Amino acid sequence: MDNKMPDTNQRGSFGSNIGFLLSAIGSAVGLGNIWGFPYKMGKSGGFTFLLIYLALAVFVGFAIMLGELALGRKTGFGPVNAYKAVSKKFKWVGWLAIVAPFLIMTFYSVLGGYCIYYIIINLIGLFGNMPTGMDSFVTMITHPMISIGIMILFMIICYLINRGGVDSGIEKFNKVGMPALFVMLIIIIIKALTIPNAVEGLKFMFKPGYAVTGGFIDSAPSALSVLATAGGQMFFSLSLAMGAIITYGSYLDKGESLPKNSVIIVVADTIVALLAGIAVIPAAVANGINNGVPVNEISLGGPKLLFVTLQDVFHDMGAIGGIFGIIFFVLVLLAAISSAISLIEAVSVTFIDRASAKGKEVNRPRTVTIVCVVITIVACLVAADGLGSNGFAPWQFFGMSEPTGAWSEDWLDFMDMFSEGIAMPLGAMMMAIMIGWELKPSFFHDEIHSGYSGKIDGFWGFCLKFIVPIAMFFILLVQLDSFFSFGWF
Ligand code: PHE
Repeated sequence: MDNKMPDTNQRGSFGSNIGFLLSAIGSAVGLGNIWGFPYKMGKSGGFTFLLIYLALAVFVGFAIMLGELALGRKTGFGPVNAYKAVSKKFKWVGWLAIVAPFLIMTFYSVLGGYCIYYIIINLIGLFGNMPTGMDSFVTMITHPMISIGIMILFMIICYLINRGGVDSGIEKFNKVGMPALFVMLIIIIIKALTIPNAVEGLKFMFKPGYAVTGGFIDSAPSALSVLATAGGQMFFSLSLAMGAIITYGSYLDKGESLPKNSVIIVVADTIVALLAGIAVIPAAVANGINNGVPVNEISLGGPKLLFVTLQDVFHDMGAIGGIFGIIFFVLVLLAAISSAISLIEAVSVTFIDRASAKGKEVNRPRTVTIVCVVITIVACLVAADGLGSNGFAPWQFFGMSEPTGAWSEDWLDFMDMFSEGIAMPLGAMMMAIMIGWELKPSFFHDEIHSGYSGKIDGFWGFCLKFIVPIAMFFILLVQLDSFFSFGWF
């Protein structure tokens, strides 16, 4: 282990455990919860999907969460330096955990910008001209200058928070933002469930097989693909293998219990995903049915779920629709910001660590400025592409005659292919092998038992040695299959 420990005061740290928890939950609760989870749960078998998701969260998600927090706090570094400090063989994995959050940010910022746009159109809608979902969506994605402008606005907000520091920027934002998000979610749920036919949406989510018998989809997905969908979703949703949790762990006080914190983060993220599902799916389904749309034609997946289907729900509510639209998109914006700042921090921390380890003065504002500017420049490509609608999607850009899998359809998927598709499952698999087999879980014994005296080692070691590597290898194959359409699954 590198004996040059960083100067924690210079790097910054969380002011309290609750501040840390809200920030880690803020990182986990994001766009993945609000549109990925509900949609995937419905289409992949409702309650069955939920059970598989929960099992994976316990045996895989929890184990990696605890591993990342322990690695971050023990070394006192972000991902690149943390891996370097504990293992020569695995130090390259640290680089995956900085490239991946960078790439995720190049499209997360564009989606965050979309939320700002929808807040604005709902605000304008309050004064009488409430646009429909499709009109708003098409205008936004086919006007590169609009998409770039709102993305830059989103980046400026995140930049100001990250620049403020760990306790006076990130923690402060999450301490207000997370409770606010929760209250807004409850308001939206109450409104959504009072729309006639909302119960059809609840059945779609919670009744096993109802997506098929209710006519939403033609046939049930295979067990393997449900497992893979649940695994990928769980990983992204918990912010794992992206450097974010290692980074937040490195800012946490030594006396706090890592196993307890890991359980709280996993449980809270899952509860918010379920609540988000109850806020979004019943409203989308009910509004479709009430307008005479056949259930299999209601858009419940991808960006359209929020930006077309849900916007139509607000449009159809009449005069008060704008108010609910604003509440809803502010809530999604808060979720996006709290995740984005953890991604920006995961990239910035490498430069902060480098200065701090060399004993140089840490220049957080300059570091965060450079990181945010570079992300913004690359994100312009993703924003201008407008989800592949403006004529220079990767397949066109690379001169192919037609798309050859999701990776080539738009620049968002192209960035996602490297980050979520390859770096995330590969990084998690390598971390489990490193802790389980190379270092051995006992390497982290003191770290895990600082502030915690219960039993956990046997369970944790078993998960890291066997379950996580196998699960992650499988998820890696499925991600590759879904991006490149190999037809393996
Ligand atoms: N967990 C976030 C979401 O669900 C995304 C994210 C992934 C954030 C990785 C940080 C790190 O949207």
